[in-house]
Amino acid sequence: MQIDIITLFPELLSSPFEASILKRAIAANKVVVNFHNLRDYATDKQKQVDDYPFGGGAGMVMKIEPIDLCIKKLKSERAYDEIIYLTPDGEQLNQNIANTLSTKKNIILLCGHYKGVDQRVRDHLITREISIGDFVLSGGELAAAILCDSIIRLIPGVLGDESSALTDSFQDGILAPPIYTRPAQYMGWNVPPILTSGNTPAVEKWREDKAIEKTKAQRPDLLTDKD
Ligand code: ADE
Repeated sequence: MQIDIITLFPELLSSPFEASILKRAIAANKVVVNFHNLRDYATDKQKQVDDYPFGGGAGMVMKIEPIDLCIKKLKSERAYDEIIYLTPDGEQLNQNIANTLSTKKNIILLCGHYKGVDQRVRDHLITREISIGDFVLSGGELAAAILCDSIIRLIPGVLGDESSALTDSFQDGILAPPIYTRPAQYMGWNVPPILTSGNTPAVEKWREDKAIEKTKAQRPDLLTDKD
């Protein structure tokens, strides 16, 4: 898989890809991640990437030309399955979306800044708009990093234990059960005895029951929402 990220601030994006699972996935060639500085595609001497909004109003708007030139260049090199704009008014990211995107070959992520991009970018150049939640960030970079993390860890072979993404919270529509490790007793706080009983079917049943109990208590919407 290849992910091309178009951004005004590549330095905001580097560190998430330089540690842990994402770093390993890149080193193992499971994914290629490239950053493209939008300023390199500015057409004028001042390298201007934003301008005042037509009709007035507060805030600057990201211009269409540099974005179009950058996307055109990338598209001339390979076909893309999705060109995604990160924006707080997009479709809200969830595990289904991450699963779907993890099966794609090439995607572009466009990070917004200021008041956002010229609407014509959204109307004509983008295939999908994704938000990471109902709050406003200073730009799309941190949202892009979160989206990348949620996708890359699902690519086959990226997680050491192949089954571990399958047992994540949300993966089967509910939250994951509580987990414990040694020591079995700490400060009088004990691990549930069933987990150290060696009775695998009983452990499985306990995990299922706890997962449902936790989902009912913390996210009852997951048991009623069917999307
Ligand atoms: N850019 C600014 N805020 C955002 C959000 N919540 N999700 C995605 N992109 C954003």
